[in-house]
Amino acid sequence: MEHTRIKELLKSEEFGKEVIVKGWVRTFRNNQFIAINDGSSINNIQAVVDFENTPEEILKRITTGAAVRVKGNLVESLGKGQRVEVKATEVSIIGDSDPEKYPLQPKKHSLEFLREIAHLRVRTGTFNAIFKVRNALSFAIHKFFQERDFVYFHSPIITGSDAEGAGEMFRVTTLDPINPPLTEDGKVDFKEDFFGKSTNLTVSGQLEGELAALAFGNIYTFGPTFRAENSNTTRHLAEFWMIEPEMAFYELEDNMDLAEDLLKYVIKYALDTCPEEIEFLKNRLLDEEKSKPQAERSELNLVEKLNFVLENNFERLTYTEAIDILKSSKPNQKKQFKYLIEGWGADLQSEHERYLVEKHFKKPVILTDYPREIKSFYMKQNEVDAQGRHTVRAMDILFPGIGEMVGGSQREENLDKLLARMAEVGIPEEEMEWFLDTRRFGSVPHSGFGVGFERLVLFTTGMTNIRDVIPFPRTPKNAEF
Ligand code: 4AD
Ligand code: MG
Repeated sequence: MEHTRIKELLKSEEFGKEVIVKGWVRTFRNNQFIAINDGSSINNIQAVVDFENTPEEILKRITTGAAVRVKGNLVESLGKGQRVEVKATEVSIIGDSDPEKYPLQPKKHSLEFLREIAHLRVRTGTFNAIFKVRNALSFAIHKFFQERDFVYFHSPIITGSDAEGAGEMFRVTTLDPINPPLTEDGKVDFKEDFFGKSTNLTVSGQLEGELAALAFGNIYTFGPTFRAENSNTTRHLAEFWMIEPEMAFYELEDNMDLAEDLLKYVIKYALDTCPEEIEFLKNRLLDEEKSKPQAERSELNLVEKLNFVLENNFERLTYTEAIDILKSSKPNQKKQFKYLIEGWGADLQSEHERYLVEKHFKKPVILTDYPREIKSFYMKQNEVDAQGRHTVRAMDILFPGIGEMVGGSQREENLDKLLARMAEVGIPEEEMEWFLDTRRFGSVPHSGFGVGFERLVLFTTGMTNIRDVIPFPRTPKNAEF
């Protein structure tokens, strides 16, 4: 390779050395100073062009977005905010970029605008930082589990099961949607399909993960999952990545310990390995907050916020305890949460979750033992309590600014109880024989959870819209490329 990556050059002490830089022009000022970026760093290197000895034809083509090759000598920079620069002896154009047509201009663009050009936004400093943190978090997840001897297990993407039983599936079929073959009673005949039955994109790898946990002991999945929920929020995607560990012989407490350790480990890894990116994102956020009234600005900057999570235990309490707190709280001085007046049994809305983590405890919270009716069929049932309340061994981890980051539970390992619950919620036994075999042959207590990867990236980067932390967000009406 004849060129050196800019990240290396920015650290280099070898003044006077002849170097070659290849990258893209961010700005070109005064026919003299090119800011070049090659993606290795958020920072650019400055090349100083000897414009008297550079052909006019080349100077004209040094435009924002163009790819260039610069040969020159590494020298100490007199400019502010940079230690080194390249005194160019030769500049050539590798790929032109028409400045009239190139959508990225050398100025600050809004995130909304950049979302519309997701194919080019990866070329900006902000998205360089975000996706490097995303990369570090992905690696850290594997590192954490591999160090603990968990097996990375690949669950299928196309499946016949609706793991969550929530019916939010994207159907996968090879049948003609206009003229599908029909059964005698007029229903679509999926037996004619390539898969021979109705299939969908996976909503979760958990059920297959459970099979594997009862073979390997400890496993994790980490892959894309799909939900056809038509929700246009800053926290939901139709395609998101999920990390789903599943562990044999783990009870709910072990499950919570593992989840808390995992989150702290990966956030620490990002802080340790992406200091420049996180510093950049911190400053970006501080900048953004300047336009807000003092009262709405966050007390902690991004780095302080991440360190705070590392240094404090997550608060653990039951759903019932949380409801009591919410009922007796007055979020807007006068009013109580009116919706909770109906009381125990209701699902928490994001305003409740946010109140608990942001106002009441001011740190991540693990809520356990939710009402059975608002959770999935596979969760382990608690004994009915004195008030006749049915709860399950569920745990949700709530994060400031995010809401639900993790959903998990101890699983119901008792075949009869599981069958009874499936019958109650209307899941046909014959479709789940493969899953039920885990409870028929050598069933053991086991637990697991799912981390929404983009929500983790959101928290670690301090971004506020989930569309900005995945390269190609899939949300309603958003699937161009
Ligand atoms: O709470 P959920 O639905 O749990 C499960 O899927 C379980 N099978 C996990 C398990 O126990 N193995 O989803 C888990 C997490 C949520 O806490 C949330 O962080 C994220 O996945 N999530 C989403 N993230 C982005 N967009 C969506 N539409 C999401 N739905 C869930
Ligand atoms: Mg959930």
